[in-house]
Amino acid sequence: MTMLPVISEYFGISVDMLLGIVPLEEEYKPSEAGRKEYWNDQIAYQEKIQKDLWNEDYVQFLINNVWKIHKPVTVLDCGCGYGALGLMLLPMLPKNSKYIGVDFAEAMIEKAKKNFDKESYNSQFILADILKYETREKYDMVICQSLLRHVNDGKSMLRKMIDFLKPGGLLVCVECNREFESHGLYVSGMAYEYLCANTGLENMWLRQLETQGRDYSIAIKIPQYLQEAGLKNIGCRINDKVILIEPEMSNYKQKLKDLVETEAWFDFNDEDKKITDLIKHGMTHVEAREFCEQQREIGQNIKNNDAISIVKIRGMIITYGRKAKM
Ligand SMILES: C[S@@+](CC[C@H](N)C(=O)[O-])C[C@H]1O[C@@H](n2cnc3c(N)ncnc32)[C@H](O)[C@@H]1O
Repeated sequence: MTMLPVISEYFGISVDMLLGIVPLEEEYKPSEAGRKEYWNDQIAYQEKIQKDLWNEDYVQFLINNVWKIHKPVTVLDCGCGYGALGLMLLPMLPKNSKYIGVDFAEAMIEKAKKNFDKESYNSQFILADILKYETREKYDMVICQSLLRHVNDGKSMLRKMIDFLKPGGLLVCVECNREFESHGLYVSGMAYEYLCANTGLENMWLRQLETQGRDYSIAIKIPQYLQEAGLKNIGCRINDKVILIEPEMSNYKQKLKDLVETEAWFDFNDEDKKITDLIKHGMTHVEAREFCEQQREIGQNIKNNDAISIVKIRGMIITYGRKAKM
């Protein structure tokens, strides 16, 4: 009996919970990512991620050699955010191409308009929930990046995107496969096996899939979904970008700072709150503690070492296919 308080403290629960007098289960809190209010606060974070997402020579290769886009196109970007993809694609696409971005978050659309005001591109931004958006327009290319893994019904979103295409039009989905991403990290001085130990995250994703339909591994299933939807010439590639940080790089300190911020590795002042949040989103108490401990150790390892090397792969899969010609 004397061990009970120690054990309950370790698991972060009361003795009554440990004895089963009070239910252990926290009420499940759905991920906020299906709500526009969540995204209105995410611009700064999205900007940091975008900085290191693509090797532009590879995107140009996809446009010229894989998708063979040699004439001006109209591009509809679903869940366009602040228009980062458009800003990267338009200088690479044939002159007179048009970019149309749709997003339901007001702050994202405002920022996108501001970003494009400075450019002379042919562009348009529409504030709308894609699932409810109706238009008679059809587009040569419909694209999304980091959208489908955040929504509760990725398959319905895909069907909607296919509806927006002209016959013969090209659908492109760029989505992260979270399992690839969480195995795509190496930090010098740490055991790779430990960095890959993500049971808590995996259980949380499974819970989100079962309760909300939010699928963190949708990226790897998209080719199958496109085939079921009747698309033709389906192809699949992987983004070749690898974030590499080495002490002898001239921008070493800045690159390290950017990555530490996006990954929130030093952000453990409010660890108790983080643990509670993770539990509400589907982790067990033990998993949430272990996850925070792992993140804290990564942060401390970086802080205590002034010559660290890091490899980080975001695990983006690029799937594409064409709508059948009538
Ligand atoms: C992770 S961000 C990606 C933004 C952008 N595609 C990029 O890669 O920079 C996801 C975006 O999808 C938008 N979004 C999510 N669900 C949406 C929906 N049902 N309708 C319109 N936009 C949506 C969010 O507002 C957010 O801007």
